[in-house]
Amino acid sequence: MKIHKNATMNGEIHIPGDKSISHRSVMFGAIADGTTVVKNFLPGADCLSTIDCFRKMGVDIEQKGTDVVIHGKGLKELKEPSDILDVGNSGTTIRLMMGILAGCEFHSTLIGDESIAKRPMKRVTGPLKQLGAKIDGRANGEYTPLSIRGGNLKAITYQSPVASAQIKSAVLLAGLQAEGTTTLTEPHKSRDHTERMLSMFGVSLHEDAQSVSIEGGQTLKATDIFVPGDISSAAFFLVAGSIVPNSRIVLKNVGLNKTRTGIIDVLKQMGANLEINEVDAKGGEPYGDLTISTSSLKGIEISGDMISRLIDEIPIIALLATQAEGTTIIKDAAELKVKETNRIDTVVSELKKLGANIEATDDGMKIHGKTTLKGGAVVSSYGDHRIGMMLGIAACITERAVQIEDTDAVRVSYPNFFEHIEFLTKTV
Ligand code: S3P
Repeated sequence: MKIHKNATMNGEIHIPGDKSISHRSVMFGAIADGTTVVKNFLPGADCLSTIDCFRKMGVDIEQKGTDVVIHGKGLKELKEPSDILDVGNSGTTIRLMMGILAGCEFHSTLIGDESIAKRPMKRVTGPLKQLGAKIDGRANGEYTPLSIRGGNLKAITYQSPVASAQIKSAVLLAGLQAEGTTTLTEPHKSRDHTERMLSMFGVSLHEDAQSVSIEGGQTLKATDIFVPGDISSAAFFLVAGSIVPNSRIVLKNVGLNKTRTGIIDVLKQMGANLEINEVDAKGGEPYGDLTISTSSLKGIEISGDMISRLIDEIPIIALLATQAEGTTIIKDAAELKVKETNRIDTVVSELKKLGANIEATDDGMKIHGKTTLKGGAVVSSYGDHRIGMMLGIAACITERAVQIEDTDAVRVSYPNFFEHIEFLTKTV
């Protein structure tokens, strides 16, 4: 990356489709009856892994860039895969797919990359076994490779120990195939894309504050889906627009689902200059345009219910906090340790190398601002897309050039991320 001294960031970009919604559009289209047409799909590596897995189970899926057509024949028509299902780097693929496989009376084996091999799976295999699926894996079913033989499921009532949309979605997808009504309760409400999209596919659910119930035996009917831009990807440019001097960035069609907009609340509390223009709620998901311009910022505390509404944005929020006056405290975020990398460790170590005043805590981090980031260092994404992108934005404000290793990881969720940085950067 070339660093332009005294550069600003100005212009308008379309943020790529939401990763969580793109995964679900393929999975639900694959188990629905009829043809599902998806627009603005995210062709990132993670979502392509989902397509690949469902093709291996006999589903006919056409994908050309951001257009996807899925020819679903219903849950019963999924076929035993003749090969291992490889989810690559995608936690959402493996955990949600297990919910579907839990109801299928065939055998399958699931693997992923080095990062997936370290991520805890019992949080999902535990409740799925309670429903009646036969699942085994390394370390008593905690880690990949995992093998599943599903079928004959009976509904459960499950209290999830963590607010996790992946656990919730896996239990709901298995519950859909179980006898009786399955109910899941979580400590705080996690992202609700599964609930919204299942409704679009004609499934009825019962929801209250922290619980959701699904009656088994319902079928999905194909539908058309528009995927809004991913607010987790927009977050990188919301931060860039706030901290790069004299900048103004317009982000088009960004998803504004309340279970995901913690970053907007944080930016406002810190004093950011942000305009929101909500345009529509096509396909059950609200979205709109965001305009951000440079401002002075102050440190805040981020904790409690807010954490699940911005968990994926914490790496970039940490960078934002280095440019805010005072201390920012992030707590109740121990889940960061089991993401694509241990994001408490990777955020703290890489930002320190650039000159930030940041310390790790047991369940988060403390950032003392405002600091000038000196740069002049070699940093790494450690194969984690969100760490790579946070470092890419950091490099836009450092005094000296930064060498970022393993930038390929950004392909997981934002293939044209570095092109967007170049497009927006204007030398003054
Ligand atoms: C996701 C849920 C979250 C999030 C992940 C995507 C999803 O994980 O961090 O990037 O699409 O359901 P958890 O369910 O582990 O909180």
